[in-house]
Amino acid sequence: MELLRVRGQGYRLGAPIDWLDSTEIRRHLGQQAETYELRVVDIVESTNTMLLEDSVGGAASGVVLAAELQTRGRGRRGRVWHSGLGGALTFSVLWRFEQGAGFLAGLGLAVGVGLVRAVRSLGLEDIMLKWPNDLVIRHRKVAGTLVEIHGDVLGPSLAVVGVGMNFRLHAATRERVDQAVTDLVTEGAPHDRNRLLGEVLLQLARVVETFRASGFGPLRSEWESYHVYAGRRVVVRLPDGTLEEGTAAGVGEDGALLLQTRSGLRRFHSGEVSLRALGVGERRRGASGF
Ligand code: BTN
Repeated sequence: MELLRVRGQGYRLGAPIDWLDSTEIRRHLGQQAETYELRVVDIVESTNTMLLEDSVGGAASGVVLAAELQTRGRGRRGRVWHSGLGGALTFSVLWRFEQGAGFLAGLGLAVGVGLVRAVRSLGLEDIMLKWPNDLVIRHRKVAGTLVEIHGDVLGPSLAVVGVGMNFRLHAATRERVDQAVTDLVTEGAPHDRNRLLGEVLLQLARVVETFRASGFGPLRSEWESYHVYAGRRVVVRLPDGTLEEGTAAGVGEDGALLLQTRSGLRRFHSGEVSLRALGVGERRRGASGF
């Protein structure tokens, strides 16, 4: 939240906050409103953590937990997800599946397709994906997802899909983030978080329906068409710090990144791996900026 000092009067908000409102969100969902049970809370440590706990207690498939503020938002690879009050959209969705946990390998990428469709429908055609599932605009991160999977090999299984979208970043949040970022309002999205969440949930319902029936396969070529590094020279960083260089050659049906290297085609799974473009003149060793 941004507070501005007004001489002789005290403080006022830097910009008005359009609070999340279940009725408004449901209005945007139309017929898909039945897919979801919406829960909007003011403050929570992490919507993913809370929804995972609720899933143990039997929460149903389609529960959405959206928070105005997270005090301990979690990102991929143990990172912190920073967001300020009213400056982001932070929510998680619980999906239950009859299939085993292995079937869910490509779910994160399927979710990425839904997010791109939603943001494009709001007029932001420049939105792209960076494997595994960051949303970027001109190489600046605008959203990320944290997919946490539980279940048996033979099923059933569940996924808590956490989404953090920069809506209108406050200067203080921007300073805490250690990578190039932007937000949806700066890029021209309508100033309406309820509409954004409604549109995102609408598109997620569609891609998850496809995924449930046939896995990531039917969404794969669309995902590849959005990949910001398609056909480009990239560097993959492995958990032990090793760097692997190659050309981004698409993704597998399980969501693995396919990398054409000198020693052949290699596959990388999203878990602990990170990716960036190889700049001109950079060497294999000592690269940074992941
Ligand atoms: C990433 O890019 O590293 C993933 C960021 C995911 C952040 C979202 S915000 C809502 C949900 N709750 C969390 O604690 N994390 C996810």
